[in-house]
Amino acid sequence: MSTSTSLTTTEVYSLLSLSLACVAILANTLQGDGNPLIASIAFSGIAFSSSYALIRWLGNAFIRRGFKGRDMSKTKQTEIPETMGAVCAMVYLFVLIVFIPWPFYKDIVVATSGGGNRDVMQELELVETGRFLHRFPHNKLASYLSALLSLQTIVLLGIGDDLFDIRWRHKVLIPAIAAIPMLIVYFVDFGVTKMVVPTPLRPYLGALFDLGWLYYVYMALLSIFSANSINILAGINGIEVGQSLVIAVLIVFNDALYLSPFAPYPHPATDSHLFSLYLLLPFIGVSLALLMHNWFPARVFVGDTYCYFAGMVFAVDGILGHFSKTLILLLLPQAFNFVYSAPQLFHLVPCPRHRLPRFNARTGLLECSRVEFDRPLARPIAEALKLLHRLRLLDVETHDGGEGEEKGRVVSSSNFTLINLWLVWFGPMREDRLALGLLALQAGVGVLGLFVRHRMALLIFTQDNW
Ligand code: UD1
Ligand code: MG
Repeated sequence: MSTSTSLTTTEVYSLLSLSLACVAILANTLQGDGNPLIASIAFSGIAFSSSYALIRWLGNAFIRRGFKGRDMSKTKQTEIPETMGAVCAMVYLFVLIVFIPWPFYKDIVVATSGGGNRDVMQELELVETGRFLHRFPHNKLASYLSALLSLQTIVLLGIGDDLFDIRWRHKVLIPAIAAIPMLIVYFVDFGVTKMVVPTPLRPYLGALFDLGWLYYVYMALLSIFSANSINILAGINGIEVGQSLVIAVLIVFNDALYLSPFAPYPHPATDSHLFSLYLLLPFIGVSLALLMHNWFPARVFVGDTYCYFAGMVFAVDGILGHFSKTLILLLLPQAFNFVYSAPQLFHLVPCPRHRLPRFNARTGLLECSRVEFDRPLARPIAEALKLLHRLRLLDVETHDGGEGEEKGRVVSSSNFTLINLWLVWFGPMREDRLALGLLALQAGVGVLGLFVRHRMALLIFTQDNW
């Protein structure tokens, strides 16, 4: 089976003109005081058009190599290319590498020729004698390279998982290992393991509480969580990329708050947020290209590669950009889905291989998928499920007695995912409406989170950090 792989004429011309415009902008940044942020935006445009074309061109090659999947929520369950996230990840990594000279070359120029930066200029003699070289931002380059290394490692894991379906218990720790380069740089560069204590707790803990090595455990856990939580909030067209895009756009918005002309300058957080933008803008570029192919009705699947990769981009970005707590606010739907899934993930109740919603071929709508309990559940678990049912947090079916069965025995329940819960609440709906609803939730929670972060922070902390 083959899918259409050629680009339409309109697509060719649009992608070509976008690429040319971006190349022109890049060429322009080479002259004079080139702005790396402008270059990053241009690179993101190139990242978008390259991924868009490559996703289309490589589809059949992926299918031939066995990277394919059946879309279970369609009447005609055709096979479409899977693991297209690998294409995006490759384009992304290449773009990030080619981008290196822009931000770092500029710093060299400032340090060696005094490119307009007055406080550097007065020490020009030192530059000539070479003693000023420490101004070359080794630390920023190290952060950047460690981010690249962590991301490459996670992409390897993702591709391995898409190839061999690695067992959950084997793959769960890998993001933490992938995070080591970045954690070491964090240690050398900042070494800040203190947390600002909310005002009400200050009498007990003091203003700053040093978590010590636990801080590194926290950051490693954040990488594990971030990478895996996107992979389990999955199973309908567009949801994996969609949620990642919403999160990325919200982080960019948050970065912009620190970089806008109205923000106080120079601000200690400016550089971190600029760094965050350099990592995120190309990510938005490649993800947008993927979403256009993965949105309902999907022409490609993203694969686990994309989910791990996206999660790791956020973890790296949040940790090296110093806003890991803000990041957690943006991942609240993922956190909820993870906690809600826990009974199935830890096998307190059976967990089927797939928990994606059930497609009803007669209506064309998605309904919540169910897990059947062939054997009676332990009493406390059964009671807990019934309680969740009464709280409308689960849809539990009980036996009505007869046929020698105990009346009220729990025979089935909806699967424990946010996606199924949405269907329990709002009833069956078409796949794209379901995805849109969940993305709206993601955006709403994120905007609220950022609002709370910046407005209410003053209530529980003494000052907002910008
Ligand atoms: C995770 C979920 C699993 C869910 C699956 C769907 C947990 C513990 N695991 O498993 O419950 O069913 O993701 O991605 O929560 N597919 C579709 N339509 C889509 C996306 C995927 O039909 O829009 C199907 C395709 O057959 C595709 C397969 O899901 O080939 C991909 O599943 P995979 O990513 O391998 O599942 P897991 O990540 O292991
Ligand atoms: Mg998956």
